[in-house]
Amino acid sequence: MYKKLFIPGPTHVRDEILQAQAAPMIGHRSKEYADLQAEVTPKLQQLLYTQQRVYLYTSSSTGVMEGSVRQASTRRVLNTACGAFSKRWHQITAANGVPCDKVEVPMGQAITPDLVDEALSGGDYDAITLVMNETSTGLMNPVGEIAALVREKYPDVLILVDAVSCMAGAKIDFDAWGLDVCLAGVQKCFALPPGLAICAVSDRARERARQVTNPGYYFSYAQMDKKYELHQTPATPAISLIQALNAQMDDILAEGLESRWNRHREMAAYVQEWARRFFDLYSDERYLSPTVTNVENTRGISVAKLNQELGKRGAMISNGYGDLKEKCFRIAHMGDLTLDDLRWLTAQIEDILELT
Ligand SMILES: Cc1ncc(COP(=O)(O)O)c(C=O)c1O
Repeated sequence: MYKKLFIPGPTHVRDEILQAQAAPMIGHRSKEYADLQAEVTPKLQQLLYTQQRVYLYTSSSTGVMEGSVRQASTRRVLNTACGAFSKRWHQITAANGVPCDKVEVPMGQAITPDLVDEALSGGDYDAITLVMNETSTGLMNPVGEIAALVREKYPDVLILVDAVSCMAGAKIDFDAWGLDVCLAGVQKCFALPPGLAICAVSDRARERARQVTNPGYYFSYAQMDKKYELHQTPATPAISLIQALNAQMDDILAEGLESRWNRHREMAAYVQEWARRFFDLYSDERYLSPTVTNVENTRGISVAKLNQELGKRGAMISNGYGDLKEKCFRIAHMGDLTLDDLRWLTAQIEDILELT
């Protein structure tokens, strides 16, 4: 039986979008392909409120995280960590031999402008990494406020944002905030199958990349730029996914961006209220995510068993991430899910666990 995915990626993909992937194949150096990329790119710029370049990478997000830290710094990178995925960016930076330091807060807490100010003032940094939506804890960092601080006090510092689990589910005002890199994979809030990543890159970041000694090849902005104005990518892209992305972007823009952000906020508010009623919320209430809720398992239920039972009814949620396994469970409310989907899911959980 198909299980509707309420996990924080991959998310439920609508049939129309699965069908859009089945369009006849075209060559990646053909006019048809160039027309496709030329059509989809401005839609992505609109989504991110940006005039800057938006690249399509045939990769999961981790690849683009690696590519972006390699091209961001000629001095030192500050990695901010508030959970598993933000920590991963520190591991990636170090593994690529880029000098870096990590500033960390306990899981469930947010990275704040004050913390960033203190950390940046203490070192010779020219780039910072941030996770906008920390999927492991269900928390959204105040990236706009952090970016305002960085742009004002540390103009040389590039701002790299992992927006993997919130791009297309929450507003990211790339130009107004003054971001330099913002990336996401399409299997979360875009509600597409995995395999493609979107990355907005500022002119400032492209200039920095030209000064870096070993920028790499596959993710290199300079390589991407050789083909950008031809509306192509240097290597063969995931054409089927880009066809589906083009169709999905039409639907996203038809829904309206503000309506889309509101739908995500409404779903989040509903799940948070439900979690407060029957369990508890894990993360700092001031920074709860609009796309995924991390519910604290205050009743000591078996999350694995709950998920098995949900599976029989055609749904799947996520266990807690890493050390939070069985201590928490996560309900994603992203992509094309609706409030009715969430109402149905919580009713199933109440029924299975006999919650009253
Ligand atoms: C915030 C965040 N960053 C990075 C990743 C890694 O994405 P991928 O496994 O698609 O490379 C994930 C995956 O869940 C994520 O949630």
